[in-house]
Amino acid sequence: MYSLMSQKKSFLMRKNVVILISLVILSVVTILYVNKHNVSIGEPYFIHFEETGNNISCHYVDEGDALPSAEDTTFSPRSNSIFFHETSCRGGLNSRQACAVESAARAHPRRQVYVMFSAPVSDIVYERSCIAKLRRFPNVHFARVHITDYARKTPLESMVASEPFKESKWRVEHTSDVLRYLTLYKWGGVYLDTDMLVVKSLTPLGHNWAAKENNGLVNAAAIAISMDFLGRKLANDVIKELKTNYRPDIWIHNGPGAITRVLHKLCKTHDLAEWSANTCQGLEIYGPEYFYPIHYSKKDEYFKAGELKGAENAYTHHFWNKLTHDMKIEKDSPYEKMAKEYCPTIYEMYGEEFGS
Ligand SMILES: *[C@@H]1O[C@H](CO)[C@@H](O)[C@H](O)[C@H]1NC(C)=O
Repeated sequence: MYSLMSQKKSFLMRKNVVILISLVILSVVTILYVNKHNVSIGEPYFIHFEETGNNISCHYVDEGDALPSAEDTTFSPRSNSIFFHETSCRGGLNSRQACAVESAARAHPRRQVYVMFSAPVSDIVYERSCIAKLRRFPNVHFARVHITDYARKTPLESMVASEPFKESKWRVEHTSDVLRYLTLYKWGGVYLDTDMLVVKSLTPLGHNWAAKENNGLVNAAAIAISMDFLGRKLANDVIKELKTNYRPDIWIHNGPGAITRVLHKLCKTHDLAEWSANTCQGLEIYGPEYFYPIHYSKKDEYFKAGELKGAENAYTHHFWNKLTHDMKIEKDSPYEKMAKEYCPTIYEMYGEEFGS
């Protein structure tokens, strides 16, 4: 009697184990099948974008865009937001650009970060490229700029409608120069180039500031213009400067050139070494050690294995993309080590391919 019961019990247990194993196999197969057949499920992967050079025809293309429009009435960033502009026609972000965005979002969990595209971004890029990784940060947002509409009801409306960038030798860069000032004019906040890395919060630096590349030039790769009285004066002056003095034939004229010329009028002296909140009506002018700690003549130091010297006070780093986009980021180089620390999500996604 006893032995019969125990036999029956062990038969039942074996039956349960078989059912359990079958269920596990069935669910694994289902998960694999769904992943393979649905583009919106699954991990983002490395999408390589074609370089589109000096062609900006995409700025005027409307179809195939997954992004919400920056001209929509529902688009209204808070005045302490951080903005990036992508003005090439590649229609996505490369790993270095995505790293810049992640680093800004991590350093400012309580501020909103906007990535403004001048090109359409397709569904697949929005759902499955590194953009999908960045969208998981609650303070990162993407929007599409239609430049003519974006400039409507601003002093640059007619200037932008005349499509002055088509005449430019550097169409992508000159569009970016004008858009950064237009964005700060419209919303206020901080603008950053996509070839930067943020290593600490910019909030202690105040609401209105610019930074010198050297004592001859204020760079425009990082600039803050607020909605307060001083910020409005600065925004109006830069926009007016662009309206009257835009030049398609000089590389730095419309970005760093524009802000530097405005400051020559705003500040009490023409000596850049003397520029500060005291001499520039309250506008903070920071030295290169905060935003551009490594001069472009020493750009290799970011890419070769070793330690960075003289960057202890940096809030950001600038990688001088125009000069360095083809350079390999070596293992144990400062760039690689900083990417690991300040944009770990993007670094992990690309691994060995980061920066290539
Ligand atoms: C720019 O790109 C568009 C779309 O790919 C193409 O139709 C056009 O011919 C290109 N223009 C130039 C000047 O290469």
